[in-house]
Amino acid sequence: MNDHVQQTKGGVTRRQFLGFAWGASLLAFGGEMTAALIKFIQPVNASGFGGMMRAGKVDEFAVGSINWIKAGRFFLHRLDDGSFIAYWQKCTHLGCSVPWVESEKQFHCPCHGSLFNKKGEVTGGPAPRPLDIFPVKIQNGEVFVDTGNPVVRSSFDASQTTKA
Ligand code: FES
Repeated sequence: MNDHVQQTKGGVTRRQFLGFAWGASLLAFGGEMTAALIKFIQPVNASGFGGMMRAGKVDEFAVGSINWIKAGRFFLHRLDDGSFIAYWQKCTHLGCSVPWVESEKQFHCPCHGSLFNKKGEVTGGPAPRPLDIFPVKIQNGEVFVDTGNPVVRSSFDASQTTKA
């Protein structure tokens, strides 16, 4: 046996062991990089209510508009600065579906009369808090809304919006 080759108890030389360890590290690193690349280039996996939903292309939503996405049970508001916020249509009083009433320029709950302004904040009636919101994500010029993760809030602020 050569002096520079050390034999381990299991019959694997130090050089072989280091070779295996290096190879395993490269494989693990390569696997992580591949997974990250796939995640980066894949579109958001859109599903139905309760999951990530595609609302439409950014350009389909006029600045200042309130858009009812019926299948997603939410309203997508494109604010004056071009950003987006998604309101769950469920009233924060007792859960009725709250429509946007264009003639009133507000959300008006038909059950007990709660009123919400264009930012979903309570302006009248028994509702205890603003309309809950869903996280919005913009990817490749399309708007996606995560209807599986409603966010409760006490008031509106700009951090709740997503820039286009
Ligand atoms: S459920 Fe909307 S006001 Fe009561």
